[in-house]
Parts: sequence; structure tokens; C-alpha cells
Amino acid sequence: MGPDSPAKPTPAPDQEENSSSPTTALLSFDTDAYSSNPSHKTSILFISLTLITCIALSAAFAFAFLFFSAASSSAGVDSTARALTKLKRPVVILISSDGFRFGYQFKTSTPNIDRLIANGTEAERGLIPVFPTLTFPNHYSIVTGLYPAHHGIINNYFLDPVTGDAFTMANHDSKWWLGEPLWETVTNQGLGAATVFWVGAEVKKGSWSCPVNLCHHYNQSVPFEERVDMILQYFDLPSEEIPVFMTLYFEDPDHQGHKVGPDDPQVTEAVARIDSMLGKLISGLEKRGVFEDVNIILVGDHGMVGTCDKKLIFIEDLAPWIVIPDSWVQSRTPLLAIRPPPDISLSEIVSKMNEGLQSGKVKNGNRLKMYVKEELPSRLHYSASDRIPPVIGLVEEGFKVEMKNSKRQECGGAHGYDNSVFSMRTIFIGHGPQFARGRKVPSFENVQIYNLVTSILNIKPAPNNGSASFPQSILLPSS
Ligand SMILES: *[C@@H]1O[C@H](CO)[C@@H](O)[C@H](O)[C@H]1NC(C)=O
Ligand SMILES: *[C@@H]1O[C@H](CO)[C@@H](O)[C@H](O)[C@H]1NC(C)=O
Ligand SMILES: *[C@@H]1O[C@H](CO)[C@@H](O)[C@H](O)[C@H]1NC(C)=O
Ligand SMILES: [Zn+2]
Repeated sequence: MGPDSPAKPTPAPDQEENSSSPTTALLSFDTDAYSSNPSHKTSILFISLTLITCIALSAAFAFAFLFFSAASSSAGVDSTARALTKLKRPVVILISSDGFRFGYQFKTSTPNIDRLIANGTEAERGLIPVFPTLTFPNHYSIVTGLYPAHHGIINNYFLDPVTGDAFTMANHDSKWWLGEPLWETVTNQGLGAATVFWVGAEVKKGSWSCPVNLCHHYNQSVPFEERVDMILQYFDLPSEEIPVFMTLYFEDPDHQGHKVGPDDPQVTEAVARIDSMLGKLISGLEKRGVFEDVNIILVGDHGMVGTCDKKLIFIEDLAPWIVIPDSWVQSRTPLLAIRPPPDISLSEIVSKMNEGLQSGKVKNGNRLKMYVKEELPSRLHYSASDRIPPVIGLVEEGFKVEMKNSKRQECGGAHGYDNSVFSMRTIFIGHGPQFARGRKVPSFENVQIYNLVTSILNIKPAPNNGSASFPQSILLPSS
């Protein structure tokens, strides 16, 4: 669990809320004392109070001066957004590097990421994913600003509780995809969006028809270099035709992280390769004279944790307390999601499972805790959808759930755990005219990014779970 609450947006460090309140309190006390009793004693009191107030005010001003000069020097020279030199309007490129755990940037030399950090704004201790910390729920939260319960993609795979239809990661039927993703918000307001892959981008919704040349169909085999070139080509269009919002997606280093765990040299190599792709993007934008005009937002969807050392929990071990048939289990690990037939008591399932898990007789049983979904910690926001199965298990970082002991090779990496676990954090870096150079901000949840993008583009956001004031805490004010 990190130092900052993942549920509410933390204000930026240079927003001082407390420095003015003592002054306000002193002034109101002063006014009351003067008006209630105008005697001689009161005038002495009044003079002393005035003096105290003056001293306090000077101290407050001195403090504020020191504070703001310190804040502005740490944030570089800009106090307002920098003017565009070549582009006609603000443009955002939203980039995701899948499974880029916070801290991977220290594994190896990453000159391009370092450059974005040095001249941009970084979440100093990383970006907090939403629960469950899986690829589809998180990518879609980033572009809708909604928790999975509200955008509908509650897992990478799930069943519709009414029809029994299965959602899979290749499904583009709009009935599954709720909320309003950024490409739709952008096109609603008469502007252009382009997606070089993103979760949900191929779904036709409202004004977004997934137009050819703008909405690229997901193809894992397209080399990363080509994806970067696809983005760069948009900047060769006539100025008024350049999409204002673009997405760019890389499967790495998630792919390697799963296979060999986060500490393997293969992950280090994958990180270096992502960095070189960012280098290709930066130099392409520089060549076109637009690098300093474009807002680049670099994020990941979640982190990664090693799962070796037989950190396993077997559901069959619970048989003396309760037998859980395979058919009840809709998702197993790290998110254990159970939908029993309707006539079975949910609280009884939960209490029997927990009794077994806590008995000391089930291997690693104390690493898994079962909940009726409404009783999950509210910070997880994981109950307000019928698609979420009614019984959910929270498993500790690095542990996995299996139905039975199968002696399967278990060593590798996983994600999907509680979003307060530090290893599930990913990166946030913003670079461009509206981001202060060299600024660090506290960690925040990825549902804030939707409002951040609409604020940069100066368009009207759809209702979402980010806070309306968040963009002001992180962006430079417009000049
Ligand atoms: C940061 O931006 C300044 C101003 O454009 C530039 O001179 C400097 O080289 C940049 N630093 C890095 C590390 O790119
Ligand atoms: C996917 O991309 C590869 C590499 O560019 C290409 O050869 C292949 O035809 C593409 N597949 C589809 C279905 O478009
Ligand atoms: C999230 O946003 C949805 C849609 O606006 C809203 O119905 C829901 O109450 C919000 N939930 C939270 C926790 O903010
Ligand atoms: Zn993954």
C-alpha cells in the first residue's frame, strides 16, 4: 500500500491549501473582537491583535513567497502553457506500453524516457491502475475515465449474467463497451482522432465509426517501428487534417514479464526497445518541427510481479468445507470470480471458503480472502455491475489460485492483483506545451487521464469518475 490513497486524487505538491487558513482565522477573530465591545481594554486588545495579525500576515507572505519561488524553480521556467509554434491546435498522443511496471525505467539506460521526464511532468511514484489490474479493464478506464463497473469491461473475459454470452478480448460488439471513450468525445466535437491500436478502438459507437486510415485494426504482427511511422505520417497531413488525439500501443514489456517474470534480462531488453521506439517517435516529431508542440502522454496499464516459488492456493483443498465446481468459477487467477447457481446462499459460500482458508489446514490459505462483492473494500469500486460475479476472492501479491494441484510450470509473472499493491503500479509521464518541465506530481489513478486529455484539447468531457479539478493540479494554466 503506497503512502497516498488510491481512491482520491492527491493535489499537486505546489498547491498549498493550508497556508492561507490560519490567516483567515485570525482576520475573522479580529473583526469579532472589535465589533462586540468598543471599550479601552478592547482597543489595546485590538492593537495587539492588529500587530499579531500583521506579523502573521508578513510571515504568511514571506512563506508564500519562498514557497512559490521554490515551486516555480523546481518546475522550470514556465508558469503558463507554452505557445504552439507550428500546429494550429493542441494535439495529444497517448502511448501505452503494456505491463510497464513502475521502476522498469531504472533497469537500463532509457535516454528517451529520461528526456521526457526531464522536460515533462512525472507521477513520481507511478500511476495507479484500476482494479482488477488487467489489460482490458485498465486500457478502457484510461480512455473513458470510468471504473470497470461503469465502463462494462470488468475483466479480460467474462459472461453476460442474463444471456450467458461470452465477452472475449476480440469482441467489438458495442453492447459490451459502455461509457464514452476519448475518440468518441473528440469526434462528437467535430475533431479528428486516430488509433494505432487501443483496447476498444475498433468498436463503432456514436459518432465514432472506426474510419479507415484513422482507426487501425489490431494486428499484433505489425512491427513497433511501423506503428510509430503510422503516427508520424499524420503529421505530414495539412495542418487542419491532423487528428488532435492519437493512440499508440505496444504489447511489451507485458509479454516478456508474463513469460519470465519482471526480473529477467528479457524484460530489461524489452524496456530498452520501448525506449528506442520513443526515440524514433521523438526524432520523427523533431524532424517535422512539432515535438515541442505535441502533448505526449506515456502510460502503462498495470505493473507485473513474479509468481515463482510455488505460491499457489488450490481450491480442491477446500473440499472438507465446501466443494466449488469448475462451472461456478468464471475467472481464477489472480482475480477469483465465482458465480454459483441462483439458489445457493452467497454468504454461506463466502463464510465456508473463508473458514477453510483460515483453518491453517489449507496451503497458503491465509493468502486468499473471499468476499460477497458488495463487501469488498469500497476503494476497489468493484461491485456496481451485474457483470461482476457475486463472489470475489482477493489474493495476495504474487500468489496464484488453481482448481487442483496439477504440477504445472508456475514460474513467470502476473498482474490483476489489488491496485494498492505497489508492483501493480505503472508509469505516467506528460511532455508538451501544457506540462511543466521537470515537475513531479503525486501518484493518481488512471481514471483521471480522461479529464486531463479533454482539458488539454479544450473539449467538453462526458461524465466520468475522474475529478473535474484534477487537470488544474497537473497542467500549466493557459497563458
Ligand atoms: C529540454 O528543453 C530545453 C528547451 O527546449 C532544451 O534546451 C533541452 O535540451 C531539453 N532537455 C532535454 C533533456 O531534452
Ligand atoms: C498483420 O500484419 C502483418 C505484418 O505487417 C501482415 O503481414 C499481415 O498481413 C497482417 N494481418 C492482417 C490480418 O492484416
Ligand atoms: C462513476 O461515474 C458513473 C458515470 O458518470 C457514475 O454513475 C458513478 O456513480 C461514478 N462512481 C464513482 C465512484 O464516482
Ligand atoms: Zn498482461
